[in-house]
Amino acid sequence: MSQFKPRVFSGMQPTGNLHLGNYLGAMLNWVRMQASHETIYCVVDMHAITQAMSVWGGPKELNTATRNVAAAYMAAGINPKRSILFNQSQVAEHGELTWIFNCVARLGWLNRMTQFKEKAGKDRENASVGLYDYPVLMAADILAYHATHVPVGEDQKQHLELCRDIAIKFNNDFGVDFFPITEPVIMGPATRVMSLRDGTKKMSKSDPSDLSRINLTDSADDIAKKIRKAKTDADGLPSDREGLEGRPEADNLVGIYAALAGMEADAVLKQFGGGQFSSFKNALADLSVAKLAPIAVEMNRLLADPGYVEGVLNDGANRARAIAAPIVKEARKIVGFVVG
Ligand code: TYM
Repeated sequence: MSQFKPRVFSGMQPTGNLHLGNYLGAMLNWVRMQASHETIYCVVDMHAITQAMSVWGGPKELNTATRNVAAAYMAAGINPKRSILFNQSQVAEHGELTWIFNCVARLGWLNRMTQFKEKAGKDRENASVGLYDYPVLMAADILAYHATHVPVGEDQKQHLELCRDIAIKFNNDFGVDFFPITEPVIMGPATRVMSLRDGTKKMSKSDPSDLSRINLTDSADDIAKKIRKAKTDADGLPSDREGLEGRPEADNLVGIYAALAGMEADAVLKQFGGGQFSSFKNALADLSVAKLAPIAVEMNRLLADPGYVEGVLNDGANRARAIAAPIVKEARKIVGFVVG
């Protein structure tokens, strides 16, 4: 039996709007896990500033986006009484533990991170040191709480493997069983939501085409329009999974329907297979509007009272700190730092 009690931690970056990929790949599981676990959800503002300022927009935009993302969490179903909801930079232990982990993680491990390569692009020399160190901060986020489960989309798998490697090496180097070996929770029919314009590309905030993604702040009309305009091929919908092979756009839309409806992809194909693609798209547009439009409405309601959102983040930060502080203090002792 593990000495660690089950505890969930996850986070999202406040760079621009959240989109359907964030919602289906991660947030639906966050909401579900509230019923069975102790849950901690973070707005990772320190991760946001690892990219060029033109990406995160500067101080004013970061501040607004942090509040917006916190409101989006709540609008999507995160209950701030049940879960701890806070922004990363308010809890200094994240940065503190990152430094210790910087001295545990190896350059070779970070050199393998595909997301760094993608984000840095060709101009690697000009990427920030923070972008390179991003996965180490992520490991500190998780391990400062001794979190055992981390619900994320598929694109975070490699970062979570690094988190496990850091925990294992720390425990081995210091001869302790102090950090848990965290389990990724990559679950459901839409762990990798693709662009609505190109089924081979991940849906992402950075895609220049707004038609490629559904933002959680989109109006009902925009949501329906984007689904109807989503790229598809000329064939109808098949009645089984094999029929989706080599058809990334169709596969993606079926996955989105399944995740929104709480069904398996097979059941969706049973229901719609053999029919025209356009009637499936109409059903998907209706379902998307029914599930997503209320989130934007609730977000706006919450944001109308900025004091409330700020209060939630401050209260969450106090509760988060109460958990992280003794764990990080113990880590400092283990390292041999003189701890007052
Ligand atoms: P971020 O903000 O890039 O993404 C937030 C979450 O959304 C998921 N996601 C997707 N899932 C399915 N399909 C997509 N197209 C898609 N796009 C994004 C991501 O997998 C993620 O779960 N590095 C993290 C933030 C982070 C974190 C942490 C997560 C910082 N510290 C500690 C867990 C634990 C990230 O990708 O954020």
